[in-house]
Amino acid sequence: MQGTRDLTEQLAGMLVDTRKRTLELVSDLNDEQMLGPQLRIVNPPLWEIGHLAWFQERWNLRRITDEEFGPSTILAQGDELYDSMEVHHDTRWDLPLLSREETLAYMQRVLDDVLHKLNTEGPTPENAYFVRLAAFHEDMHSEAFTYTRQTHGLPAPPLSNYDPSVLDGQPTGSFEGDAEIPGGEFMLGATEEMPFVFDNEKWAHPVEVAPFRISCSPVTNAEFASFVESGGYEHDGFWDEEGLKWRDWAGAKQPVYWSRAAEGSWNVRHFDRVGPLRPCAAVVHVNWHEAQAYCRWAGRRLPTEAEWEMAASTRPSPDGGVTGRKPVYPWGDEAPSPRHANLDGRLLGTVDVAAFPEGDGAFGLRQMIGNVWEWCSDDFGPYPGFARDPYKEYSEPWFGDHKVLRGGSWATRARMLRNTWRNFATPDRRDLFAGLRTCALR
Ligand code: AVJ
Ligand code: FE
Repeated sequence: MQGTRDLTEQLAGMLVDTRKRTLELVSDLNDEQMLGPQLRIVNPPLWEIGHLAWFQERWNLRRITDEEFGPSTILAQGDELYDSMEVHHDTRWDLPLLSREETLAYMQRVLDDVLHKLNTEGPTPENAYFVRLAAFHEDMHSEAFTYTRQTHGLPAPPLSNYDPSVLDGQPTGSFEGDAEIPGGEFMLGATEEMPFVFDNEKWAHPVEVAPFRISCSPVTNAEFASFVESGGYEHDGFWDEEGLKWRDWAGAKQPVYWSRAAEGSWNVRHFDRVGPLRPCAAVVHVNWHEAQAYCRWAGRRLPTEAEWEMAASTRPSPDGGVTGRKPVYPWGDEAPSPRHANLDGRLLGTVDVAAFPEGDGAFGLRQMIGNVWEWCSDDFGPYPGFARDPYKEYSEPWFGDHKVLRGGSWATRARMLRNTWRNFATPDRRDLFAGLRTCALR
């Protein structure tokens, strides 16, 4: 059993660490960049950092019940400014936002008060739950700040944990082949042994999965370039109706940050720099439509969510089926280390798909966790018996028109990830650190 003191320190440490990351992602931005161009897909960073503090205050300091919140003693106009369900996205640029200094002071005050509460009351189940909720919420927004910087062509963020030495000795290049997963009954979703899960992961329930073959690695830039070179974006037959609409609306002819270097070679913009496409790194910044079109061209398909999670978390059994308790990560229950996966922004970008064999799952699948999010074929929906958690707008409003992504990216914080973690986005989003892994057609 973890001691009360240890748990308090762990929880406080998460809040402090995620805030440090938030500040590293915005501190070097000038006032103009803190607002940024108005785009449908991103938030003005000045608004977004205030939203983090508002969220933390609401759940940790103002919550009376899950429906009832006391007034703010720190920022009277907090709800009018920062409630993401109330303040329409397009208006976030026109609000009477606080200045940067005022916003930072508000953030610090809320954090100090939450830490004080945690230290005086201890890690009650309620405190532990809502501290984790606030920390993971901030972690998710830190990934969003990171891709916002990419979207706007700003410099790579000056992250203090940047450490390219973790690639020393790692395999480079591609990592080909399919793993055969025997199929059978699989318990999809999270179990109650996890200290914290989101409502959309609850609860593990049996699904029948037919045997399938799934690629041992994500799709590489070179593979995706073959699709582009062979006219994949122009050939209507590779795109479904929605995909065609999106392609023609966007005028897409290649992945969003790619540009022609010379006949047969590509450059790619990475933050504010343009450089040659690295052939064996995982393709990234492709949306669900592009992923689908690639699959049709390649004679492959996207995995279902159940297939993805089964591939990440099952163990072969002696009778040729699959077996056992699900590990938290493909490699087991050990928390992700720099040897397991490309996470936490440590490498400030994608790596070759052969890297990090220590993170392999039991069927030899590499990089299920980290490097790039992987699109699944499914619509994001509730598991049987779904019930909203206190933060009721986390999942439910997005069921139906979003697609599922699994596994986390190079920018995702390791502490919030696991095999059962479900991310979701609309199928047109090219700004995310998302790629794909494919399955053989049945
Ligand atoms: C779970 C990453 C899809 O960014 O829309 C942040 C996370 N929800 N604030 C999102 C979230 C509310 C969410 N994703
Ligand atoms: Fe949010």
